[in-house]
Amino acid sequence: MAERIVILTGAGISAESGLGTFRDGDGLWSRYDLNAVATPGGFARDPALVHEFYNARRANARAAAPNAAHRALARLERDWPGAVLIVTQNVDDLHERAGSRDVLHMHGELAQALCAACGARWPAPAAMAPGDSCPACAARAVRPDVVWFGEYPYHMDRIAKALRAADLFVAIGTSGHVYPAAGFVQEAAQAGARTLELNLEPSATASDFDAARFGPAGVIVPDWVAELVG
Ligand code: APR
Repeated sequence: MAERIVILTGAGISAESGLGTFRDGDGLWSRYDLNAVATPGGFARDPALVHEFYNARRANARAAAPNAAHRALARLERDWPGAVLIVTQNVDDLHERAGSRDVLHMHGELAQALCAACGARWPAPAAMAPGDSCPACAARAVRPDVVWFGEYPYHMDRIAKALRAADLFVAIGTSGHVYPAAGFVQEAAQAGARTLELNLEPSATASDFDAARFGPAGVIVPDWVAELVG
C-alpha cells in the first residue's frame, strides 16, 4: 500500500526558480520591514505600499518557472495517486504549474484577491491598488489573499487530520522559524510518522527529524523521489 506522505514546502523549494526566500542572506525580510508589508496593521497604515510589495512578488512568481524539485513532487503524486499531500507555506503557484494537484496553501496565494468586507475571492489582477472595489459587494476593501503575521493560516483542520494519518512527513526548503508550520514535524512524529528534512542546511527544527539530506532542492528532491518510485 503506497504510504501516506505529507510534504511541507517553504520558500527554499522555489529559490532555484528565482523567487527570493525570507531569511537567507539577502532574503525579503532583510530588504522589507515585515511589520509594514505582512501584517494587518501595516496594510491599514499604508495599503499602497503593501499592494506594491505583493504586485512585485506576483509579477516575479508569474515570470518564474517550476524547477526540478516541483516537478519531482508532481511525479511522486502521479505515481502514488491519493497518497501525497503538499502543504505549502509558499504563495506562488509553482507546485500547480509543475502538475501537483493536492496542494494546500496555508499562507494563501498571490494569484487570488480577497474582499475584506464580504470574503469574496477572485483571480487577482496583475496589479492591485487601494482604490480597487470588490466585484461582489463593491466595497473598496480589496487585499491580497495571503495570510499575514497575526492571522490564522488556512486549511488547518485538513492539515491536522493529514498529519495524524501520515506514514511519512517531509519538510522541504523551510527554515522552521514560523509556527504552526514549524510544529508539524512534531505533530506527525507523535502520530507515528517517520520524518525527513530536505534542505540547503539544517533548519531551526532539524533535531525534530529522524533523517535529513542537505543540498539544493533541485538536486536532492528528485534524487529522493527517484529512490521512492524507482
Ligand atoms: N534548496 C533547498 N533549501 C533552500 C534553498 C534551496 N535552493 N535555498 C534556501 N533554502 C532553505 C534555507 O536554508 C532556509 O532554511 O530554505 C529555507 C528558507 O527559509 P525562509 O526564508 O525562512 O522561508 P520559509 O521557511 O518558507 O518561511 C516561512 O515565513 O515570513 C513567513 O509567510 C512567510 O511562508 C513564509 C514563512
